[in-house]
Amino acid sequence: MLTTILILLVIIFFAKNIFSEFINNENNPLDSSIDKESTVVEGKFTPKTLTKYNGKDSPKIFIAVKNRVFDVTQGAAFYGPGGPYENFAGRDASRGLAKNSFDEAMLTDINKPIDKLEDLTKLEIESLDGWEEHFENRYKVVGTLHENGTIKEEQEDVKEE
Ligand code: HEM
Repeated sequence: MLTTILILLVIIFFAKNIFSEFINNENNPLDSSIDKESTVVEGKFTPKTLTKYNGKDSPKIFIAVKNRVFDVTQGAAFYGPGGPYENFAGRDASRGLAKNSFDEAMLTDINKPIDKLEDLTKLEIESLDGWEEHFENRYKVVGTLHENGTIKEEQEDVKEE
């Protein structure tokens, strides 16, 4: 029992060290002085058009949580190329956040209907709601997520300042 606890503590210690590299990054996503006003114009996205904002095809990084789109560009150390949560960039992250997994399998095919999340357990819904609050506190909402083909092409993009 004691050995298990010790092993767990060692794992947590090393995991924290790894992640502190991201935290100490110049582009600190935890910095409360993040300028939430700088990027945003309201937009409508579909799963397909959202993929552009993956930090590669565009310098901006957006992710969707419960059909709202957040600009998480300030958290590029997390979501940008090579970051631990890069799978979420330009995608609907809701299922992954609910199930605490950034596995590829958490993502819905961009050609399929938006995930309705109907199978989530109470605990998973609570987890997702907690993350939603986290994103609300840290990032700005830049738009909403809509089914493919339900909005006009010219409305699907956001203007950048
Ligand atoms: C080895 C396991 C993990 C460790 C050590 C870890 C560590 C961390 C740390 C230190 C932070 C920053 C502190 C904070 O914002 O409170 C963070 C943020 C975050 N983690 Fe993890 N994490 C792990 C697994 C996961 C998993 C499985 C997910 C999948 C949902 C996840 C999603 C996130 C998200 C979305 C953030 C917020 C980033 C932001 O503020 O934009 N983490 N994680």
